[in-house]
Amino acid sequence: MKREIKFFNEIFENLTPKTQEIIEIAKSSMEKAYAPYSKFKVGAAVLLENGEIITGNNQENAAYPSGLCAERVAVFSAKALYPEDKILKIAIFTNREKDDSAVAPCGACRQSILEYEVQQNQPIEIIFQGEKNKFIRVESTGDLLPFYFDSSRLI
Ligand code: THU
Repeated sequence: MKREIKFFNEIFENLTPKTQEIIEIAKSSMEKAYAPYSKFKVGAAVLLENGEIITGNNQENAAYPSGLCAERVAVFSAKALYPEDKILKIAIFTNREKDDSAVAPCGACRQSILEYEVQQNQPIEIIFQGEKNKFIRVESTGDLLPFYFDSSRLI
C-alpha cells in the first residue's frame, strides 16, 4: 500500500457531511468517558463500510494500566460486532482546552488501527482536533506510523 503521505488541516465546514457527523458523535461519546483519574476525556466514532457508526470512549481504572483508550474501545468494539466489515474512518474528540495544539491518537492506538488497515487492504482515515475549530485529516493510518510493524514482518 505505497502512497504519498498527506495531512489535511481543515475547518469543520469543509469536511464531508459524514465526517462532520462522526466528529459530532465522537464528541457526544467523549462526554460519557470514564476518566476520573486523568480528567482527560476522549471520544471516538468509527464509520464502517456498512454505514454503522460505533463509538468508544476512554475507560480508566484505579490500577492505571488496566484502562483503555477511546480509539481502541471503539475499534475493538466495531470489529467485535462486525468482523467482516471494513473500517472507513475514525474521528477522535477530546475535552482538552489548554491550547491549540493537535491531539493525535497515541502510538498503541495507531498500531491497533493499523492492524485492520493492513488486514482489509484499504486505508482507514483518521480525523482529530487541530488548532481551534480545525481538524487534521490523515487519509491512511500508516501515515501516522512511518516504518510501521505489521504481520508481513513476522517470520
Ligand atoms: N487516551 C485516549 O483515550 N486516547 C489516546 O489516544 C491518548 C490517551 C486516554 C487514556 C487515558 O484514559 C487518558 O486519555 C490519559 O492518558
